[in-house]
Amino acid sequence: MEETLLSSPRGASVWELKMFEHLTGHTRREGALLEGYLSAAKDTESKALSYLVDLLVEDERRHHRHFNELAASLKSDAEPGGAEPIIPRLDFDRVERDAMLEVTTRLLDNEKDDYAELKRLRKELADLEDTTLWALLVDIMLRDTEKHMAILRFVTEHAKPKRAPRRG
Ligand SMILES: [Fe+2]
Ligand SMILES: [Fe+2]
Repeated sequence: MEETLLSSPRGASVWELKMFEHLTGHTRREGALLEGYLSAAKDTESKALSYLVDLLVEDERRHHRHFNELAASLKSDAEPGGAEPIIPRLDFDRVERDAMLEVTTRLLDNEKDDYAELKRLRKELADLEDTTLWALLVDIMLRDTEKHMAILRFVTEHAKPKRAPRRG
């Protein structure tokens, strides 16, 4: 898998340099983990195992990307005159608070319904949990739904009054 090699940020503080090392180190470890999964998927005769490894690979690719983006964003924030960070700065003051809350509350309600629906489905699948992958997949979707709710709660908890337009 292709590796983006980021050089250490110039003019960074001690904390920034340490954090940068931490993030790039983690990126390398995630990369190695990913290679491990990919070879496990290649070597197995079991379709079920390779299906599950594919799920893990999908997540690990994302983790790998996130760590890369964290390191790159830290670098652009640390360097004087650095580029716009890949992970955007928290600029919720650019959107209208009430409208944003209205949308996120609605989406959060949808996720809660989804969660309840998945819970019901999970119960129905109890008899199959040791003979198929189905219950496991529903368990994973329940966790995904928890993640979606966490993202939406973050937005509602950080919604801010819109910044007054600058004058003159
Ligand atoms: Fe990971
Ligand atoms: Fe969802």
